[in-house]
Amino acid sequence: MKKVILITGGAGFIGSHLVRLFVTKYPNYTIVNLDKLTYAGNLENLKDIEDAPNYEFVKGDITDLNMLRTLFKKYGFTSVIHCAAESHVDRSISDPLAFVHTNVIGTVCLLQTAREYWNNNFNDTLFYHISTDEVYGSLGSEGFFTETTAYDPRSPYSASKASSDHFVRAYYHTYGLPVKISNCSNNYGPNHFPEKLIPLCILNILHEKPLPIYGKGENVRDWLFVEDHVRAIDVIFHTGKTGETYNIGGHNEWTNIDLVKELCRQMDEKLGRPPGTNEKLITFVKDRAGHDLRYAIDATKLSRELGWEPSLQFQEGISKTIDWYLQNEEWLKDVTSGSYQHYYEQQYHKR
Ligand code: NAD
Ligand code: TYD
Repeated sequence: MKKVILITGGAGFIGSHLVRLFVTKYPNYTIVNLDKLTYAGNLENLKDIEDAPNYEFVKGDITDLNMLRTLFKKYGFTSVIHCAAESHVDRSISDPLAFVHTNVIGTVCLLQTAREYWNNNFNDTLFYHISTDEVYGSLGSEGFFTETTAYDPRSPYSASKASSDHFVRAYYHTYGLPVKISNCSNNYGPNHFPEKLIPLCILNILHEKPLPIYGKGENVRDWLFVEDHVRAIDVIFHTGKTGETYNIGGHNEWTNIDLVKELCRQMDEKLGRPPGTNEKLITFVKDRAGHDLRYAIDATKLSRELGWEPSLQFQEGISKTIDWYLQNEEWLKDVTSGSYQHYYEQQYHKR
């Protein structure tokens, strides 16, 4: 059967890389990108493929059940890859209900529509849910998250993602809906909205503005280049086992302070500033409420069973990422005009 794939949230950071990979690598598939175009969604991310014959964009909200029903009938989707979400922890602290609405209600609306539309004819169908390692909670200095680590979400964002994961599994066990879930560590790379640590610091270094480090900068994140993540999604979509969960990560842990110093060092070089110039911008600010100490993924299952490995060393990935932002100042200018300024004031001037 010809694959007709609904990708939700395809105008966002990870979704846009995923849409590009599928549209270019699989010309026989039809890819429909459903996105509400919130502040985080940007069709500029997909300019290079917007006219591809196997690609269509639909503007819409995943909580709109009637629209979803119409869309499934119109296109006859054979699979869903669900990326759409509210994705920023700090925003979830100021507005948790928005996260419940999109991440929980939206996911259940999609599950319900897929179930109704496929009507127990599940041959060659798949609901693939994209999730995060943050559902597992926070690690101490030792250990890793595996696929069997108990869920222990601690922020409204991770609680909403954990809830959506539970609903996906509930539809698998209760209705037999064919599902897969992957839980990935922190991503970085081109097209990342500058509210997250790496693009925010690149932008601020560029404009010689303070680099806000929460607390002492000792929190640890496990960073993966976004193109490696979408390659993993491709592998899991095609060869992963139905009903299974796969953790995705690159064994690449950094404390926030070391990471920001590496950004400063590379950008001193690239911008022709004397060594040590950018580090002077580092400013310690009030810690995030409930700030998870450490995330670290054990991706052995994905590597052993499906043969996926990350391709990029971190320093190289960071260098590529900085170069992309330096070459795409227009993109940066567009996404940081208007409501971004308001967000920035609210988020950082109270700290
Ligand atoms: P993002 O915020 O950059 O993009 C989210 C996209 O979803 C945007 O295009 C937005 O317009 C769209 N969207 C939001 N609400 C919607 C709604 N109600 N209806 C339709 N579209 C809506 O997020 P991202 O970083 O690309 O993350 C994508 C997925 O990957 C999320 O599910 C996230 O939880 C997960 N994830 C992200 C990371 C990371 O480091 N960024 C890591 C692991 C997992
Ligand atoms: P972020 O990019 O928001 O991802 P997440 O919270 O999902 O891991 O933050 C990454 C780390 O950087 C996290 O420990 C919080 C910290 N951080 C700062 O220190 N300052 C900032 O301005 C931001 C946005 C994050």
